[in-house]
Amino acid sequence: MVWSNTFSVGVEKLDDQHKKMIHTINKLIENPDSSVNSEIVSEVLNELRQYASEHFELEEMILEEIGYPDFERHKAEHKEFRVKLVAFCSATTAHINDVPFILFNFLNEWLVNHILQDDMKYRSYFVEKNIITPTRQLVSHKDLLQFKKTRTEEQ
Ligand SMILES: [Fe+2]
Ligand SMILES: [Fe+2]
Repeated sequence: MVWSNTFSVGVEKLDDQHKKMIHTINKLIENPDSSVNSEIVSEVLNELRQYASEHFELEEMILEEIGYPDFERHKAEHKEFRVKLVAFCSATTAHINDVPFILFNFLNEWLVNHILQDDMKYRSYFVEKNIITPTRQLVSHKDLLQFKKTRTEEQ
């Protein structure tokens, strides 16, 4: 699976985290015979834990800051991901053989339904509100605060 510029949400740091997620999914694709107790599955679960804490935290902070109308629903989707991740960790500890296969399907679905749809919706909102333009991306949370400050001063 390869990253494409059309996947960009307009915030460099969030894009980097989404790229990392694709990299994680690729580990499962490249190692199709990994068993539930393999090093690969344990690496993937660790990376997902990191993704869930760092990425969701930053994304939610930005969305809340910007007053994104669908914030609560978006946050609930992230919460559901966390709950499933805990279930995957328990299933791995219990040596359930299907874990790698089900995990791969779950991540694929997450990429297609959440990253490429739900996350892309906030990109549209950023464009609509002129927070990002074709030539100006948000690079960090600091940029976001600066943008808000400039806008308040202009009004
Ligand atoms: Fe995301
Ligand atoms: Fe998200």
